[in-house]
Amino acid sequence: PRVVVLAGGLSHERDVSLRSGRRVADALRSVGVDVSVHDVDADLVPALVQLKPDLVWPLLHGTSGEDGSVRDVVQMLGLRLLGTGPRESRIAWSKPIAKTVAARAGLSTPDFVTLPQSLFRELGARQVLDAIVGQLGLPVVVKPSRGGSALGVTLVTSADALPQAMVDCFAYSDTALVERAVVGTEVAVSVVDTGDGPVALPAVEIVTEGPYDFDARYNPGRTEYFAPARLSPELTQAVADVAVAAHRALGLDALSRTDLIVDADGTVWFLEVNVAPGMTETSLLPQAAEAAGLSLGELYRSLVEAALA
Ligand code: DAL
Ligand code: MG
Repeated sequence: PRVVVLAGGLSHERDVSLRSGRRVADALRSVGVDVSVHDVDADLVPALVQLKPDLVWPLLHGTSGEDGSVRDVVQMLGLRLLGTGPRESRIAWSKPIAKTVAARAGLSTPDFVTLPQSLFRELGARQVLDAIVGQLGLPVVVKPSRGGSALGVTLVTSADALPQAMVDCFAYSDTALVERAVVGTEVAVSVVDTGDGPVALPAVEIVTEGPYDFDARYNPGRTEYFAPARLSPELTQAVADVAVAAHRALGLDALSRTDLIVDADGTVWFLEVNVAPGMTETSLLPQAAEAAGLSLGELYRSLVEAALA
């Protein structure tokens, strides 16, 4: 089969996506899969019509890749897609909606409010921010409602720091998610489905000196990873169960990564899911696969075969 990996695009995570795309294509080539990488631009439709691939694997991070729009285009052209469909991607891409779905499925997720930039402008920062702090307390985490790679994310420990955090957030998304900050062990659980249902890979624990921000994510050595995470057997099972439950509740396909925090009481807090998890050399899903003793080439080839079956 001929596989086209879509990467790049115009989102803030363009460079990360190009790295993910190259890594996946190299791994697939190493096991004999015919694959090319297409940097997504305005020529996407004619390019796909001309290439006529058997399968399209979107490794676009951020807007248009994870919000379902490019996936819509792929399906509209009658091509097969590896991964989550457009509708489910759109739901997962919105952190507040994904959190609401997860909560309805019985998962714990930190309390939150959402704030559109227009309301922030209209009502004035002071009034809105006082209300938020009144409801959630401090610290809170301010995140773009739709975004990735921790861009525009700030941990806010004092009310004075909130206005700037909101401004930074609105640079990436027109709605802010303000979430009660949970203290604990940060873990990411990748889920893969090669045809026999979703299976959790070993949890990866993330340890950083400062925040796990863009810099800490993509510069080797800035973050310490433990794969598998240093959790008790019970918590190891619990985080795997939460990730599989989130994958199912949100209707995800083939691969996903759920980001979680385990607090001191052993509560597993759902933060978000990723339908196009990073696949770079420092990313979490590849580390989890390696911790499980899987060869990346063989895992990715199994995902390709399952998508074509
Ligand atoms: N948004 C980045 C690519 C990730 O979740 O890994
Ligand atoms: Mg994300």
